[in-house]
Amino acid sequence: MAEAILSVAGLEVRYGALAALSAVGLELPEGAILAVLGANGAGKTTLLRALAGVLVPARGTVVFRGRSIAGLPPERIVRAGISHVPEGRELFPLLSVRENLLMGAWIRRDAAGIERDLARLCSEFPVLGERARQPAGRLSGGEQQMLAIARALMARPRLLLMDEPSLGLAPRLARELFRMIDRRRREDGLTVLVVEQNARLALGIADLACVLAGGRVVAQGPARSLLGEEFIRGFRLGDNPAGRTQAPEP
Ligand SMILES: Nc1ncnc2c1ncn2[C@@H]1O[C@H](COP(=O)(O)OP(=O)(O)OP(=O)(O)O)[C@@H](O)[C@H]1O
Ligand SMILES: [Mg+2]
Repeated sequence: MAEAILSVAGLEVRYGALAALSAVGLELPEGAILAVLGANGAGKTTLLRALAGVLVPARGTVVFRGRSIAGLPPERIVRAGISHVPEGRELFPLLSVRENLLMGAWIRRDAAGIERDLARLCSEFPVLGERARQPAGRLSGGEQQMLAIARALMARPRLLLMDEPSLGLAPRLARELFRMIDRRRREDGLTVLVVEQNARLALGIADLACVLAGGRVVAQGPARSLLGEEFIRGFRLGDNPAGRTQAPEP
């Protein structure tokens, strides 16, 4: 395995009195895809927001490419090489698709490289090229999700954090999206941490997986080994949005 690009240890994140994450530890090798699974409220979004600098951890260490980044503000974390696709996308609905993509490149000064990356993304997601001049708010939900991911890639991150990217996407688009992410990993060495509702889809492309419950890591290991686990089978296979095994009707 490659050396860890991201090491998290003893991470605690609080919302006032509530510890939404406790003692979370993770090691992510460079070029790997890690799927983070867990029921609603398990702390998945909180983990991504803490890694992206949106939340400041109460304790613990986050080391990215040999540097401590815990508690840095989001813009410093983007500059360090981490892009975050938040839950709910946070696009600029009145700006055009192209302007939204350019926003993603705000840390870059290489105009020619930016144009090359725009062209590459528009060939991967043709709808973004076809509708480049239209307001982002006029795209469908799934198209907006693609745009949010494409915008995050415009920063040329080494690590991409994605919060439920397949949410609202038709299954075909979700598979296409994951294929594109897998290509970025193979061609550019991108490392990915993805929170997914659809455990089957995520475990199908991830190398590693970790399961959160009540803010703690309750299982982690190679994605394939978790796919076989009994508790994954009864949990979040994409068809059970409550994240629980349905109790039989009395
Ligand atoms: N802004 C907030 N203020 C207070 N509590 C919060 C806040 N955001 C989340 N929480 C709580 O922290 C816990 C973890 O929430 P989080 O959003 O990280 O879960 P999640 O695993 O992403 O869930 P979902 O699958 O529903 O997106 C939950 O108990 C939630 O109610
Ligand atoms: Mg969430």
